[in-house]
Amino acid sequence: MNELRSRLHVQRVVSTFRGSSWPVLALADGEKVVVKLCGSAEGALPLVAEVVVGALAEALGLSTPERYLVELPEAVPSDDPHEELRDLLTKSAGLNLGFRYLEGFRNVTAADASRIDPALAARIVWLDAFVQNPDRTAKNPNLMIKAGKISLIDHGAALNFHHDWRAVTEQSPREPGTVVATHLMQVSEPELVAADDALAATLTRETLSRALARVPDAWLSTQGADAAERERAAYIAYLHKRLRAPRPFVAPGKHVPFQLRR
Ligand SMILES: Nc1ncnc2c1ncn2[C@@H]1O[C@H](COP(=O)(O)OP(=O)(O)OP(=O)(O)O)[C@@H](O)[C@H]1O
Ligand SMILES: [Mg+2]
Repeated sequence: MNELRSRLHVQRVVSTFRGSSWPVLALADGEKVVVKLCGSAEGALPLVAEVVVGALAEALGLSTPERYLVELPEAVPSDDPHEELRDLLTKSAGLNLGFRYLEGFRNVTAADASRIDPALAARIVWLDAFVQNPDRTAKNPNLMIKAGKISLIDHGAALNFHHDWRAVTEQSPREPGTVVATHLMQVSEPELVAADDALAATLTRETLSRALARVPDAWLSTQGADAAERERAAYIAYLHKRLRAPRPFVAPGKHVPFQLRR
């Protein structure tokens, strides 16, 4: 096991970002951290997606804020007195997910996005298509920038299959998905294909295992370590199968079943 190793303790909540999941800015052991709370509507699953996709992004050489396990005490002091926030903090006492605060970064605009180097754009689109991240669109870019350096944030909606494992079939990992078509960065199919082999080769089964190993047991199962390990194996099997060439999310047009081709 190799869960996220650094564990910080929150001393106070400073403000919220009023994103859909109410991330908060907190002070924890002298660090400014953005904390995503396990008591929000979808529970710990968005945190699982953040940990796994963050690790995969880094494996692909993409920049994303460092993650920490963050302990939130009961009745944590909050400078924001909002009642709904207080409820959420109460429900979230215990283990949550923190991100290094990106000092001086701002959200990218459409103009910034159009200037992103095409090779970097292809890598980001490829990752998002692989992990089925619907949240990098013109409306909701989820990229931050400082002096030309791009950082990827907000992967909580990725790995959407984990919300209903019973609906996952043998075929599910082979579905192309719609991420490429709706993405903030419109990368052409040849650009994506050009990036494909090298990116897929980076994500070995070992890399997938290491990404899953970072997730705390309690976010995967309430039934203890063995059950959590079985959950990890299910994610790894799904993602490994999705990575098998030819990857359906890269060139979906090429995978029309034979009998449908004219
Ligand atoms: N590590 C960070 N450092 C600085 N600012 C951040 C960081 N993470 C998030 N933010 C800011 O907080 C906002 C909300 O964060 P994020 O998108 O992760 O949350 P969310 O609740 O999933 O939001 P939404 O669903 O509305 O996109 C971001 O748009 C960004 O401006
Ligand atoms: Mg967001």
